[in-house]
Amino acid sequence: KTELAKIDPLHMDEKAMEHAGRLIAEGELVAFPTETVYGLGGDALHPEAAKKIYAAKGRPSDNPLIVHIAEFSDLERIAKEVPEQARKLADAFWPGPLTMIVWKNDSVPYATTGGMDTVAVRMPNHPVALELIRKSGCLIAAPSANTSGRPSPTEAAHVAEDLEGKIAMILDGGPVKIGIESTIVDLTEKTPMILRPGYITPQMLSEVLGEPVEIDPGIIAADDTRKPKAPGMKYKHYAPKADLVLVDGAKDAVIAKINELAGEKKKAGKKVAVIATEETRNAYQADVILCIGSRMDEDSIAQHLYKILRDCDELEVDAIYSESFVTPRIGQAIMNRLLKAAGHQVIHV
Ligand code: TXA
Ligand code: MG
Repeated sequence: KTELAKIDPLHMDEKAMEHAGRLIAEGELVAFPTETVYGLGGDALHPEAAKKIYAAKGRPSDNPLIVHIAEFSDLERIAKEVPEQARKLADAFWPGPLTMIVWKNDSVPYATTGGMDTVAVRMPNHPVALELIRKSGCLIAAPSANTSGRPSPTEAAHVAEDLEGKIAMILDGGPVKIGIESTIVDLTEKTPMILRPGYITPQMLSEVLGEPVEIDPGIIAADDTRKPKAPGMKYKHYAPKADLVLVDGAKDAVIAKINELAGEKKKAGKKVAVIATEETRNAYQADVILCIGSRMDEDSIAQHLYKILRDCDELEVDAIYSESFVTPRIGQAIMNRLLKAAGHQVIHV
């Protein structure tokens, strides 16, 4: 029932894109690639489309959607007012992996914003996403195109795994570039606040804004005492079926600890996976060694993170041990996802 179309981003199939755009305009759902993760798109200004999105994902309807736009003027169409900060950030980072929260106007239905008076807006940096928005003549509300609680999809096959039969169409534009969701910055308060870390770092934002940027304490707290400001960040996310534990510390100590723990599990008859890097993959003894990327190239770690978490489910392991990745630039964004997947179980050595 779900149509699947392979789209070469450099030579887009005009007919398929027109068809996909028409489906959106008719209120149907189309999954599409962006530079961060695949999105599940529907007409952002049509409450029925938003309801379909929640139903397909099995997502609570108080969790607001991001509105994807193709022109800066689209922001003016849906925002109550466009703050000066939004102009600066758009100049620097749009199209790109940055979502801005602004006050909404009456054209945006509460179904799209989960009942909030603010709206999240992003201009994605992917030719297929931008063309879909233009062809549909709509603004496109799109959460990540996964079943709620599963890792975000970084290739079309992940979308099909979760949503086949539940949506009208999947546009397959190949694997995504970045692999983790956009940075979210809230511009509705005096000081801009990051509600979700991503590829665009706090330093990059404050440099462009010429003012400090805060980070929502709720997104780094290990307990539930602080409530995150982005409703979606409070839900348990990306949890693999097996128990995942992170081990943090100096390289050799981490290797020794993971091998010790993996050995104990193996003795108990359990199947164990280790999430390792190019630099360490040969140092482990376990049933499965999954290489997430190279420490010399932190982008590669972000790119493979969600795929590896999906692989863990597929391999039906009982326990997973992972190195931790406090890498210089997007380390915070990577660890934010990994810590959630691990339910904040970290062993420091
Ligand atoms: O990279 C991305 O942002 C991807 C691609 C598809 O663009 N989209 C994405 O959407 O990650 P989603 O729905 O999986 O995550 C959106 C997050 C949720 O945590 C939600 O709670 C938060 O954004 N959010 C949306 N609107 C908000 C608002 N008005 N105020 C606070 N948080 C909001
Ligand atoms: Mg999501």
